[in-house]
Amino acid sequence: MPVYIEDISSGQENIKISFLNEVNSYEPPTTVSYTLNCVLTSESLAENFESISLPCHCKDDCTSDCTCSASQAYNSGKLSETYDHHFGKPIIECSDLCSCNENCRNKVAQFGIKFSLQVFQTHNRGFGVRTMEFIPKSSFVCEYAGEIIDDVEAQYRISKQAADDSNYIYVLKEHSCEDKCAHTIIDPTYVGNVGRYLNHSCSPNLISVPIRSNNMVPRICFFAKSDILPLQELSYNYGGECVSRTDSSTFCKDQQISRARKCLCLSSNCCGFLPFVFDNWLS
Ligand SMILES: C[S@@+](CC[C@H](N)C(=O)[O-])C[C@H]1O[C@@H](n2cnc3c(N)ncnc32)[C@H](O)[C@@H]1O
Ligand SMILES: [Zn+2]
Ligand SMILES: [Zn+2]
Ligand SMILES: [Zn+2]
Repeated sequence: MPVYIEDISSGQENIKISFLNEVNSYEPPTTVSYTLNCVLTSESLAENFESISLPCHCKDDCTSDCTCSASQAYNSGKLSETYDHHFGKPIIECSDLCSCNENCRNKVAQFGIKFSLQVFQTHNRGFGVRTMEFIPKSSFVCEYAGEIIDDVEAQYRISKQAADDSNYIYVLKEHSCEDKCAHTIIDPTYVGNVGRYLNHSCSPNLISVPIRSNNMVPRICFFAKSDILPLQELSYNYGGECVSRTDSSTFCKDQQISRARKCLCLSSNCCGFLPFVFDNWLS
């Protein structure tokens, strides 16, 4: 008997996020609470994100010279062709404090999920996420929401993971305005959204973009890398870029961890192993 749940977000998302398992009888873990946005786990972390960026004074739709997004990251509700996602600089969306009009083109991710998504049981990688409808290239798909934790807590949680446990910890490295590299750690293991079920692929159809909207808490947002057809699985590259790796025994030697896991993405240019969270963090 297939397992079907109409909406794992229990009405929190704009659109239902269904769950379908036609492979076995597993259900989504009951230990996970659904959240729309990231949750700060401590006062000291909250202090890091207290500052707010100044609102713009645009009187139009922020088409030109908007101080929130000088680089015009969006075009017609999608990532603009000229946006360079490799640069790692966050998109600052206009907020409620800005004076622009209701057609502001610098607000996208803050409106949430627009395309119907489904969590499903894959044949070899646990649960995954697929789209139930066509997603045009450069559209916002969903974010990666979870608990924001500090380095100490992340190291602790990683040390508790068994070798074959799924890892949900995401380390976002981004360049701030001063060109410094800051990192934010998001863990949707216990509190998360649909993004926690996205699998890794060495030929992904999503890219991740750091965004701020309404406050300074970083949001990792996924956009379609190309047009995506209905029922296609959605995936991103956990390591950002493809790192060729053939010898798992020397992998992560510096951290004295031998946790290399075989990548089962089956793409023709598969790197062979899943990127490990430390790849992104300590380098
Ligand atoms: C963020 S979770 C993704 C959702 C997960 N499949 C689940 O069932 O909840 C990451 C974990 O999924 C599995 N995974 C994701 N992509 C994979 C891939 N390409 N090959 C093998 N395992 C993968 C690994 O266990 C990984 O630690
Ligand atoms: Zn603005
Ligand atoms: Zn605006
Ligand atoms: Zn792969």
